Amino acid sequence: MSLGLAERKKEKKERRLASIREALGSKSIVLIGLMGAGKTAVGKRLAARLDLPFIDADSEIELAAGQTISEIFTEHGEPYFRSGEAKVIARLLGGGPEVLATGGGAYMDARTRANIKAEGISVWLKAELPVLLHRVRRRDNRPLLAAGTPDVVMRELMKKRYPVYAGADITVESRDVPHDVIVSDVVEALVRFLDDEVKATPRRRGKSE
Ligand code: S3P
Repeated sequence: MSLGLAERKKEKKERRLASIREALGSKSIVLIGLMGAGKTAVGKRLAARLDLPFIDADSEIELAAGQTISEIFTEHGEPYFRSGEAKVIARLLGGGPEVLATGGGAYMDARTRANIKAEGISVWLKAELPVLLHRVRRRDNRPLLAAGTPDVVMRELMKKRYPVYAGADITVESRDVPHDVIVSDVVEALVRFLDDEVKATPRRRGKSE
């Protein structure tokens, strides 16, 4: 019995997702970007689509410390948080393949960037200021924003961080559309990136060549 159009489309989609998983090997998809860029929301849906585990680095840091991020900042200060963050992310990268959402400051650490380069594919969810501000206003769990006026702090962070985030393997515009639309954009970009990577890898030559 021949397959209907819907089944054939579904099969094709499944094959595409399976080919992404295969091309990843043990590498993880690492989401980077500012607070409010949608790393957790998009990451969870991306992981479900690719049938990979989803891990949120901030939650893992909180688990390891037995404290919330705000408590870590208040009790120990930012440098202590950053050093724990780098260690936790290095550990998590060893457990790939997975979809890993990182906190906004993680990619600013040179060692973390090198670890991500070696063991992952970085995806920058790039968003405009109004989108970020609208999203971060919903919650008050971000110590960096609590320390000043959110739009001033956010502008400063954009100035400092966007040139560094720009080194990511893939950039996807995170905008005010349903998260699943962004997930589809990430999947498309991943397919292109992995395809280019395969083409750029020199083929092993046989003895006769
Ligand atoms: C931070 C972002 C937060 C969290 C911490 C510091 C940052 O994560 O790691 O509050 O430096 O931008 P999200 O980007 O997931 O909000």
